[in-house]
Amino acid sequence: MNDITQPAAEDAPLRVAVTKGRLLKRSIEMFEGAGADCSNLREPGRRLILPVALPSGQGVLPGFEVVLAKAPDVITYVERGACDLGIAGKDFILEQGRSFYEVLDLGFGACRFMLAVRQGADFFGPMHHRTVATKYPRVTRQFFERRGMDVDIIRIEGSVELAPILGLADAIVDLVETGDTLRENGLAPIETVADISARLIANIAAVKTKRGPVTHFIGLCKEAIRP
Ligand code: PRP
Repeated sequence: MNDITQPAAEDAPLRVAVTKGRLLKRSIEMFEGAGADCSNLREPGRRLILPVALPSGQGVLPGFEVVLAKAPDVITYVERGACDLGIAGKDFILEQGRSFYEVLDLGFGACRFMLAVRQGADFFGPMHHRTVATKYPRVTRQFFERRGMDVDIIRIEGSVELAPILGLADAIVDLVETGDTLRENGLAPIETVADISARLIANIAAVKTKRGPVTHFIGLCKEAIRP
């Protein structure tokens, strides 16, 4: 059995929480681009913490541990110091908005938060009561506050596109990548709320206490994503 349960101590290997799913695949490609051996990560089985080795000669950083977690949990682990670094989408970072450093825009996982309505609907027209469905109520509230608009926000857990179709909401705020889901469900984007991509985040204390390995890791990521 792996020895996996200790919190990140100063002399422990660098612990990097990575969002499972789409971002994991792109993260592995980035780590491999930095020369890491990701055979563990490519075949994780049911393991949730996986050691990743870097080529010798990386003195300050011989390797690191990858912790596989859901995006909101990546943020929690980094914020509370259980992990030193994390990779999470800007969507969850904006929604949770807590205390950590956002150190690098990794560029991949690019999409947009968009306000969308049923095709042809006049959301900004003379309607006296507007309801917006979203998985991201904080982002949505802040967007409408900036516009000085008072709207009712309904939290939906997934397939948010259903809400306007079923008459539950006048609009949605959701992630749009290709736009296919909106189009195929008779919806249309009307305004961009925020540009989204994967970000590297860091625990505030780890940036000081593990300055060498943290800085080295950030440098490796920067190098690997350079066009
Ligand atoms: C996301 C998002 C949209 C869809 C957009 O959903 O919420 O529904 O992808 O992608 P597209 O513009 O390329 O069509 P996801 O697949 O993560 O599932 P969810 O709806 O359950 O959140």
